[in-house]
Amino acid sequence: MILNEAVQEAINAQINNELFSMYSYLSMSAYCEHKQFRGCAHWMRLQSEEEHGHAMRLYDFLIARQGRVKLQPIAQPQFDFASVPDVFQKAFEQEQQVTKQINELYEMAFNEKAFAALVELEWFINEQVEEEKTARDIVYKFQLVKDDPAALLDLDRELGARAPDQAAATE
Ligand SMILES: [Fe+2]
Ligand SMILES: [Fe+2]
Repeated sequence: MILNEAVQEAINAQINNELFSMYSYLSMSAYCEHKQFRGCAHWMRLQSEEEHGHAMRLYDFLIARQGRVKLQPIAQPQFDFASVPDVFQKAFEQEQQVTKQINELYEMAFNEKAFAALVELEWFINEQVEEEKTARDIVYKFQLVKDDPAALLDLDRELGARAPDQAAATE
């Protein structure tokens, strides 16, 4: 069964949103490198790769359902930030935004009775719960640490220890 046009268009739009997240996290990573927060930069770079994975999930789904992938230009992400903690605050806000996008997409697929799309999108709904929680936890840690240099270095080291998410890559 071929997906209807409106659902295809909405999934293509979400592919673009995920690619924008990928770009945005990469820009955040570059900013962290510039500020010598190598651990934070590593964390952001992995997050960027995860977002690419999200885009590819939807890409593969469209192809499996005989849809057409239509790539759009990716908007320019934020270049400068007030500070490294501000980067994580922006990341958290971005994840809240993506949750909203996914919810709207789910609602639309529901109204269109696109059942296979609903099942696929359930993965994204779960993922957004995790993404928001992870970002919120890090924002909270930066609030605790404030300007204490030793604690900031520790936090940078902790974030630098993040390993690639094998589960997300192979699911
Ligand atoms: Fe995502
Ligand atoms: Fe995300």
